[in-house]
Amino acid sequence: MNILFVGDIVGSMGRDMVKEYLPKLKSHYRPQVTIVNGENSAAGRGITESIYKQLLETGANAVTLGNHAWDNKGIFDFIDTAKYLTRPANFPDAPGTGLVFLRINDIEAAVINLQGRTFMPPLDCPFKKAEELVEAAKARTNIIFVDFHAEATSEKQAMGWFLDGKVSAVIGTHTHVQTADERVLPEGTAYLTDVGMTGPYDEILGMDKNPVLHRFLTSLPARFEVPKSGRTQLSACLIQVDKETGRAKSIERIMINDDRPFFKD
Ligand SMILES: [Fe+2]
Repeated sequence: MNILFVGDIVGSMGRDMVKEYLPKLKSHYRPQVTIVNGENSAAGRGITESIYKQLLETGANAVTLGNHAWDNKGIFDFIDTAKYLTRPANFPDAPGTGLVFLRINDIEAAVINLQGRTFMPPLDCPFKKAEELVEAAKARTNIIFVDFHAEATSEKQAMGWFLDGKVSAVIGTHTHVQTADERVLPEGTAYLTDVGMTGPYDEILGMDKNPVLHRFLTSLPARFEVPKSGRTQLSACLIQVDKETGRAKSIERIMINDDRPFFKD
């Protein structure tokens, strides 16, 4: 079975890319499970209920979040009823959940969302939380997907090795630049340090490059905005998993932009 994961959807340009390419990716790769990270989907900051629903309608089976989970205050009104939305599990006391189960035909899959602590706000230990949630997930399924939303490559690699053989995949999000280190670890866990982002292509991590540049050049504060027009990109990965054992067989990076156009259909 295949799991398709689309990286950090940023703003309306990211959502438009998902609308355009998710159906094409799904018809090409035929994933049984499709997961997207939506923590930047509402103008770069959090997610709204209507965007969450729209992502499911476009073909996602689950939506993961990250450090921007709470930016859009409306999240507190719908997170507890959103069955396929996960926020980082290691927030010490937050609504919502960091573990969701998906049943798609004869397949049950678990999706876990965790957040790193290196160069990020302090949270409960993501490794201890991972152990706890993996044990809970294992009681129902061997197919376990982990979105580890973290800044430091070292912390992400550490999570990959920590969970090797325990989950199907540990895929990093948050840094918005796709890394080229995809591999299946020796005990059968697919790993990628960062899947990359989906949205503006000619900007800085999805934000309008001019205020970012201004801040670097002057050290003065500048308000970052997500652009609404321009060239776009989509970053994703496809993981092939043995549906009985949950072991990954392969992982492939996917990147769509003007420099790497999607195959012609
Ligand atoms: Fe993030």
